[in-house]
Amino acid sequence: MRVLVVGSGAREHALVWKLAQSPRAPELFAAPGNAGIAQLATCLDVAAEDVEGVITAARSNSIDLVVVGPEAPLAAGMVDACREAGIRVFGPTKAAARIEWSKSFSKRIMDSAGAPTAHFEVFSDHEEATEYVREHGAPIVIKAEGLAAGKGVVVAQTVAIALSALDNIMLNRAYGDAGVEVVIEELMEGQEVSVFTFTDGKSLTPLVAACDYKRIYDGDKGPNTGGMGGYSPPPWWDDAMEQEVRELLIEPVIRQLAAEGTPFEGVLYGGLMLTDEGPSLVEFNSRFGDPECQLIMPRMENDLLDVIDAVIDGHVAELDLRWSAEATVAVVLASAGYPSVYATGKPITGLADGPESTIVFHAATAELDGQTVTSGGRVLAAVGHAATIAEARTLAYQAADAIAFEGAQHRTDIANFDV
Ligand code: AMP
Ligand code: GLY
Repeated sequence: MRVLVVGSGAREHALVWKLAQSPRAPELFAAPGNAGIAQLATCLDVAAEDVEGVITAARSNSIDLVVVGPEAPLAAGMVDACREAGIRVFGPTKAAARIEWSKSFSKRIMDSAGAPTAHFEVFSDHEEATEYVREHGAPIVIKAEGLAAGKGVVVAQTVAIALSALDNIMLNRAYGDAGVEVVIEELMEGQEVSVFTFTDGKSLTPLVAACDYKRIYDGDKGPNTGGMGGYSPPPWWDDAMEQEVRELLIEPVIRQLAAEGTPFEGVLYGGLMLTDEGPSLVEFNSRFGDPECQLIMPRMENDLLDVIDAVIDGHVAELDLRWSAEATVAVVLASAGYPSVYATGKPITGLADGPESTIVFHAATAELDGQTVTSGGRVLAAVGHAATIAEARTLAYQAADAIAFEGAQHRTDIANFDV
């Protein structure tokens, strides 16, 4: 069996790593992959967003299954295109992935499903949006309607910040057409948690939970990033909470999407906030999280190919998905200057020097003159797995500390609940 994973980050490395353990011993390919993925798969020179390129590559390499990692190809209709071409594919259609690529659609679905979420209004007129912000005051949350690589959301503590966000998104078009409309919503306060379920549009697996760290510096200071680390499961996550979140927030949305003729088939990622009034939805994503995928793949006891088959073939109701009781912690190593301007091409050492029970997933690496070098902002994710979060944390930091490249930075407070 030949499987092609689309994407090039640590999330995709974690997927390839897990697929490589399948008893079915699939032959693995990646488009385009990275230096870590290349140790387990054949990397093809095709960009993740290149729908036609992926179809052509799948055909010429006799691929039996395509697994789409990132949101951009899902929003570009890669799953629809694969299906039309008769290629077996894991991921939601463009219409179902709209739950991620359109914030106003997503909020409307949550509302129609009766799932708790912050009160919101949608604006396409800059002046009306400005007036609304002036009337309502701060704090207030401003969101670009479309995909903005995780940068289109401003949690504004003052009216001035909110107004400048509106200017930036709607007038300056900082995120292009993603800013044709904005969603303006109420601020929610509480602990954030990411939950994941596999669904065929009819049934869903029990939720698995993880927490990530979005800010670059310790103590949640500095600008937002793609994610600087995380842990799973959260120590306070229990069966009662899983059931409440599933029944109140996730199942109704899966039912609503199906009722509207766009059933979601894939892995659905719910971002939620545990507020004083109970759990409430922040957003949905149509894919695995990054770094959450690096946290949950080492905890999955099933063959990932069986899980994918159940989703594609509509047998999720019969799937017995099991997560190990082990805890995982991920520490991301980033280039100096990230998330702003950074250099690449820095040689990396110590990749294999971490202790047992650690895995180093590559996020942005390349092979240059026989050496592994940095090739992006977030470079690596060091993951530790152990009986407790505290032990997993120690292991992840030992693996991270063994690695060196010029200007490497990481947070020192990941999964440290004492600070
Ligand atoms: P999103 O892209 O919708 O996930 O937003 C990115 C981040 O902004 C979330 O992970 C939250 O930390 C924050 N955020 C979004 N919406 C709200 C809200 N209504 N209240 C508080 N924080 C929010
Ligand atoms: N962990 C955030 C994301 O994957 O969008």
